[in-house]
Amino acid sequence: MAKIDVKNLYKIFGPRPHEVLKHAKKGAPKDEILTKTGHTVGLTDISLSIEAQETFVVMGLSGCGKSTFIRCINRLIEPTAGEISIDGRDVLALNKSAVKALRREKMGMVFQRFALFPHKTVLQNVAYGLNVQGVAKDERQERALHWINAVGLDGYEHARPNQLSGGMQQRVGLARALCTDPEILLMDEAFSALDPLIRREMQDELIRLQKELHKTIIFITHDLDEALRLGDRVAILKDGRLIQVGTPIEIVTNPADDYVRAFVRDVNRARVLTAKSIMEKTETLPIHTSPREAAKIMTLQHRALGVVVDNDHRYRGIVSMAEASAAIKRGENDLQGVVKERAPTIGPDTYLTDLLSLSADSAEPIVVLDDSDLYLGTLSRSAVLTALAGKSDIDDNHIGSDSKGLVETPEDTGAAG
Ligand SMILES: Nc1ncnc2c1ncn2[C@@H]1O[C@H](COP(=O)(O)OP(=O)(O)O)[C@@H](O)[C@H]1O
Ligand SMILES: [Mg+2]
Repeated sequence: MAKIDVKNLYKIFGPRPHEVLKHAKKGAPKDEILTKTGHTVGLTDISLSIEAQETFVVMGLSGCGKSTFIRCINRLIEPTAGEISIDGRDVLALNKSAVKALRREKMGMVFQRFALFPHKTVLQNVAYGLNVQGVAKDERQERALHWINAVGLDGYEHARPNQLSGGMQQRVGLARALCTDPEILLMDEAFSALDPLIRREMQDELIRLQKELHKTIIFITHDLDEALRLGDRVAILKDGRLIQVGTPIEIVTNPADDYVRAFVRDVNRARVLTAKSIMEKTETLPIHTSPREAAKIMTLQHRALGVVVDNDHRYRGIVSMAEASAAIKRGENDLQGVVKERAPTIGPDTYLTDLLSLSADSAEPIVVLDDSDLYLGTLSRSAVLTALAGKSDIDDNHIGSDSKGLVETPEDTGAAG
């Protein structure tokens, strides 16, 4: 499954890290520690949990400790203090050969500079990890070809890296990391060296693959758009400290401090906010409700429209106050005669950017339904506009039921682990 728990993690670079640790634990800032002791603080007191199968993005400016963090997870760097566990297993207690086995069997890495073998073919590069694992040649080839196809490189298996574009080389890097079927993918600025268009293609590719593969992914980037696009959750580091952990929506709508606020200021909110995050749930009207009762409920709710559902709660349509009144006058017993399916319907994960034209074209609110047509909520045009304008009306209730505090405290992670 691969859930990763990190507790009070510190990394100090220099000859006497444990002496300097005392200062760091007292909260001395990174620049002060450097001038006073000549030691560089890589990470300060990082506590967080990465859920199994989530894409967890670590973001921050150059030098904030992103690579140090990811390298502590697979112990390419030895932490100075703290705890790291994977599915409850203490990673820092492993001896050298156990660490190697962990990397070989549980983890795949994708680097910024691809790190391919220049003289080996694509096939040999991709099969490399299986080779190390001692998998027999036929099986190696078969599995490598599978992943070469999966990343869209069919036909290139005998090419050498220098015959491929940057984007294609990174596809090889991705196929190589996936080929041993690791539970954890560690990606350190994996797309940062690519041109913007290719980079976006690779992001799409990763999103597509992850929908099927459900790996636990730690993805490092200094690019906020990339972070918000890929991350189920995003951690923001500054000078080795964890500033905020949250879903993209939480980060954008509720930045923890001025540092994060400055980052998110220019974000296109329409690409981050989803229907789910801004919809409003109103009481539904079962189809057998009398028009008089329906009118009463709408009046109590101060609404001119009601959402009608059938007996198994599936969405049937909407009814207006005027239509309910007309049905009362005609002496109708239920809403069958007046309910209309005229409001546009969408899924909860639709981004605002994809529903803007719907909202503009429709006089009706947009109705949000799940896969089985169960009613989830309603989006009025004003809710859409308010969300775009970045007003703080998007309160915690709308951010999603699973949202906790934005920065996990050690107690939080302790309770989870
Ligand atoms: N091997 C090292 N020796 C000394 N300082 C290091 C070493 N590796 C990283 N650092 C320092 O630790 C800090 C974090 O670096 P790094 O994790 O590489 O940042 P990022 O990946 O976010 O750019 C930086 O100040 C960097 O200079
Ligand atoms: Mg780095």
